[in-house]
Amino acid sequence: MKKISIIGAGNVGATTALFAAQKELTDEIVLVDVLPGLAEGKALDMAQTTAIEDFEVNLIGTSDYSKIHNSQLVIITAGLTRKPGMSREDLLRQNASIIEEITRNIVKYAPEAIIIVVTNPVDVMTYHCWKVSGFPAKRVLGQAGVLDTARFCYFIAQELGISTKNISSIILGGHGDSMVPLLRYTTVSGIPLTELMEEDTINRLAQRARNGGGEIVELLKTGSAFYTPASATIQMAESILKDKKQILPCSVYLEGQYGISDIYIGAPVRLGANGVEEIIELKLTESELAWLHTSAEIYKQNIDNLKA
Ligand code: 2OP
Repeated sequence: MKKISIIGAGNVGATTALFAAQKELTDEIVLVDVLPGLAEGKALDMAQTTAIEDFEVNLIGTSDYSKIHNSQLVIITAGLTRKPGMSREDLLRQNASIIEEITRNIVKYAPEAIIIVVTNPVDVMTYHCWKVSGFPAKRVLGQAGVLDTARFCYFIAQELGISTKNISSIILGGHGDSMVPLLRYTTVSGIPLTELMEEDTINRLAQRARNGGGEIVELLKTGSAFYTPASATIQMAESILKDKKQILPCSVYLEGQYGISDIYIGAPVRLGANGVEEIIELKLTESELAWLHTSAEIYKQNIDNLKA
């Protein structure tokens, strides 16, 4: 039986569960939250839509971690979210202890699982999860690049008045202000973006993508984005569960690739049944590499702060 567990029944967790159910990614979906009743209530509400919607999945809501046993994939979404004016890094310490407790339960009940971390600051939380789990790095990864890239593609499509589906791009680096949109690898139906747009416009859109999460936090006032974070997570989950081997930008453990070691940061990877099956090393220009290293320095510092 295929089974996915989602930890945290807030907006991101619940939406991820619903998207996974709608796609019938697994036979069973377990939604866990420590707040009594929250996951049970949301899972029950979702399960009742099966009488109307076109999917059949066993949806379970619980606060009991033992229910995640033998999951092939566990997605961690639990944690505090940003308030206006807060950076993702401000969440560091508060969310680290939440991640620690969840990871210990995953190790106990689903020791063979692949883990996708969504909780912010995601690159540092994924590193923390990996350390606590003792799992091989290919089985622990973070969701960020798919979301950031989706935002950039959407802004480009809106500017050009064309379908978002025509845009292809990739964003490297950490999920924060230091992320690195790769303009050379951004195309519109195969046409380099630079042939269709002025540099100033591209830079403006790249900056909007960098601030994409913050823009939504400011609008919502309470909480942060969840539809596209959930959708991005499901794209990764689908590639793993169906062994699709898609190339997607994910937060992964680097061991010398791009001249960076011992941190989690965004890079393109081939995602399949074994998790991270390959980290793809693009040939970067000097300035792209310098950006990536600046981004890496910030995350190294954050990891050191967490260890201190
Ligand atoms: C975002 O960028 C929540 O980090 C997430 O919206």
